[in-house]
Amino acid sequence: MSSDHPHEPHEDLDTERGRRKDEHLSLALSQRAGAQPRSAFDDVEFLHHALDGIDETAVDLSTQVGPARWPLPLYVNGMTGGTATTAALNRELAITARETGLPIGSGSMSIALDDPSTAEGFRVLRSENPDGFVMANLGAGRSADDARRAVDLIAADALQLHVNAVQETVMPEGRRDFSRWTRSIEQIVAASPVPVVVKEVGFGLSGRTQLRLRELGVQIADVSGAGGTDFVRIENSRRERPDYAHLEGFGQSAVECLLDASTDLPLLASGGVRSPLDVIRALALGARAVGVAGGFAQVASEGGAEALIPHVRRWCEQLRQLHALLGAAGPAELVHTDLLLRGRVQEFCTLRGLD
Ligand code: FNR
Repeated sequence: MSSDHPHEPHEDLDTERGRRKDEHLSLALSQRAGAQPRSAFDDVEFLHHALDGIDETAVDLSTQVGPARWPLPLYVNGMTGGTATTAALNRELAITARETGLPIGSGSMSIALDDPSTAEGFRVLRSENPDGFVMANLGAGRSADDARRAVDLIAADALQLHVNAVQETVMPEGRRDFSRWTRSIEQIVAASPVPVVVKEVGFGLSGRTQLRLRELGVQIADVSGAGGTDFVRIENSRRERPDYAHLEGFGQSAVECLLDASTDLPLLASGGVRSPLDVIRALALGARAVGVAGGFAQVASEGGAEALIPHVRRWCEQLRQLHALLGAAGPAELVHTDLLLRGRVQEFCTLRGLD
């Protein structure tokens, strides 16, 4: 993803950006080694009502996301593209999306706007998946014209705009002038031919940020919270001296961001989603759909689409079963389930006056 360096000349920059993309992927994958950590999702428990269940064949998993109806409440979140390794991964992700119906996001496309020789690694998201829901991706701070070009490049159905100030803070080559982001978001939203999804990259969108996005005309936001892929850790280990260990864990979880919501802005949730139950928890907290990045990249990089397709199918089967168990005929009905909030999540609610 960013630093998205607009309007700079190119060759060294593009090599540097390509190297960074490969490093992001390999560091994100190595971060996933070992046991899955406890997360805020574990603090969200369903009160079990033994007679609430319905027929699983009556469950319709489709969900309304802004103006679009998605076939599933699950999507592959934006990650990568722009180098040989990452283009190959995009191909496996795109094939999975085509075969399972999952909507899919691209990684930041700024490199392709500045160096068209890298564009093929993004176009594959559309060429392998001609009828699927595909999202382009750029960093806030780019121009409205860049946004239109990114959308055109992959005939995208929506545009993800990432806001990654925490990452830029730790990234050795980060850009730390965040002062133009709101203006840029406003201009892109006004000019974009498709809906704009503003997303974090694993540090969360607070209730106040969601309100601000609403005021800027943003149609959808992805809270992308802490607890999964941690870009502080990734950027810190790319530094000569890893001075930023104290920032690890910065930000709020997706669970906390969903609880902090106070507007009618449609929300997507991502960040640290480990299982179908985590998906159901996020939907019950009001998310329209739930994104997975690092977890799906891991499966695809180890076994390609051949491994990821059955993995996604098993998740979808469980999503259907969990809806039936909880008495919800579709994702939107999950908000009527009884939730118990425990531990740090409960503490967050108390501190924010959300009880
Ligand atoms: C990302 N993410 C990301 N997001 C974005 O908007 N543009 C980008 O270019 C990237 N690049 C990227 C690369 C890699 C290798 C990973 C794993 C992730 C962030 C991603 O969309 C998501 O917000 C976070 O990773 C949190 O989700 P997970 O990984 O915990 O499921």
